[in-house]
Amino acid sequence: MKIKLLFLGLFCAGISHAAEPVVIEDFESYAAGTEMNVFRIYGGSAGQAVVESDPKDSGNKALHFTTSSWNAFPQLTLTLPAGTTLADYSAISFDLYRMSDDEDYKVMDIRIDSKILFQSTYVHHADTGKWTNKKYDLNGFDSDGSTFTISLGVNTPAGNYYIDNIAVKKAADIGYDIDDDLQTLRYWAEACGKKIGMSVSNTDNGFWSLMDIDNNMMNKTLYRNFNMVVAGNEMKFDALEPAQGEFSFANADRLVEYAEQHGMAVRGHTLCWHSQLPGWLNAGSDGSTNGNNYTKQQLLDILKNHITTVVSHYKGRVKEWDVVNEMLSNGGGSMRGSIWYKVIGEAYIDSAFVWAHRADPDAILYINDYSAEEMGTTKGDALYNLAKRLVSRKVPIHGVGLQTHVTAGKLDFTKVENNVKRYAELGLNCIFTEVDVKISKSQFGKESAWQLQAGDYYNLALIQLRNANCPNLVIWGIADPISWIIGETGGSYGEPLIFSDEYVAKPAFFKLRDAYRQYRESGIESITPDIDGSTPDYSRMYDLTGRKVGPGYKGLVISNGRKFILR
Ligand code: XIL
Repeated sequence: MKIKLLFLGLFCAGISHAAEPVVIEDFESYAAGTEMNVFRIYGGSAGQAVVESDPKDSGNKALHFTTSSWNAFPQLTLTLPAGTTLADYSAISFDLYRMSDDEDYKVMDIRIDSKILFQSTYVHHADTGKWTNKKYDLNGFDSDGSTFTISLGVNTPAGNYYIDNIAVKKAADIGYDIDDDLQTLRYWAEACGKKIGMSVSNTDNGFWSLMDIDNNMMNKTLYRNFNMVVAGNEMKFDALEPAQGEFSFANADRLVEYAEQHGMAVRGHTLCWHSQLPGWLNAGSDGSTNGNNYTKQQLLDILKNHITTVVSHYKGRVKEWDVVNEMLSNGGGSMRGSIWYKVIGEAYIDSAFVWAHRADPDAILYINDYSAEEMGTTKGDALYNLAKRLVSRKVPIHGVGLQTHVTAGKLDFTKVENNVKRYAELGLNCIFTEVDVKISKSQFGKESAWQLQAGDYYNLALIQLRNANCPNLVIWGIADPISWIIGETGGSYGEPLIFSDEYVAKPAFFKLRDAYRQYRESGIESITPDIDGSTPDYSRMYDLTGRKVGPGYKGLVISNGRKFILR
């Protein structure tokens, strides 16, 4: 009883609202021409940071930075609102105006009191010639003073940009107590013996520079709530083998170490794919041209070397791999015409699994694709037939990954569960590898849309829980504003994840947690008798007194050593 009351209190979290940003520097109090400090890294050369009029609105002032070489950006000493310190805030934002395109390689660099807050490739190509607001995490900087020093800017050899309206934002109420185990997702998924996973990528929001900061909200949201992590980009072919035969493991290694520090498993993603291939392969932007005219043997050697080197490097540490990714065509009617398929033929898939298995015989090897979640659809059945062929050829494959990039309210969960179950009959795992549940723009921020989405996450978790061959559910992105879906759909869809801006828990977070918690607490699996479209095997169902039950029975039954409720 006591425990029930406690949960009522804990789990009825309301919608939380983030605070408004407070501008702490708009440069209006400085005379035009005032020069600010320039911060230099790696012995960088000088630039000039001067207060000038705003390039768009001459009535306002802004800070103009120019340099013709690397490693210098403006450095300012700023004062926080009275009575507050940096520890009270969770985000810093500023407006940036770029006069021209920088060089291709550039890095956004933000440091507070010399500690790096953000340092990552600057990917905002679209904002030249206009003011754009940039927002970055500001967690975990302990500071008891009311002033702090910040250096911020784009590290580029051709710096010519303006900065204005530097603002800080109070930490949002995220809707649950992240420090209390019982309120985290990870606790309950783990209690059910399941993996709840999350992908993180350095390009999303400079995550690699935040891994060391325990209190950083992106970092903390990850390691408190998830027991599995996937590199969103850093284990792809172009990231790991940027030059032929030369492997670059630093970023991926760092994530694996991080996972080990936090007791999380790592899914390796992905060994063989048509996308994000390195330039030297010369496969064209869609991964389908053979620009170097490789022979079949040459391409087999390239793939074998890549897979063998990568899987061996992580042997015993990365316990499962997406060996082949997206090998089916968009609609699933045929094989995708990737460079691998066109030059090698379908056998590239078989070979890839054999090489991965040889490099780490204990690794669990998956084939992964999208829009193949439902049984009875062209692509769902094509993936099944491919997996079946691989199994019948004794290829070392252990599971199928369903990416599950879906639109809220669209999945037919009976078809999804039937799909998971038929893989079990083949002796294969079937897991959800890249879940996001997108919402159309007209529905953004609407409670009804968020509830619909929460129902989808919940149903996926129930399928995971009910099926022993479904150990993992991985979510593709940690917070709505940095989801790949926004770019992928040109902004017409978004908000696909379980945390919103500033890592505030959405209804989907609570519903997912409910699924795991209810399952753990009841120890009972709830099924509807027609879940797989067929009549259940009543000859093997018993009530609690050991008596066989027949069709139409409702209530608790035991079947094959498992408890079910027939409704
Ligand atoms: C996406 C990443 O999230 C993006 O950052 C990147 O720009 C493109 O790739 N299917 C996959 C993932 O298997 O690797 C993709 O990830 C999303 C679709």
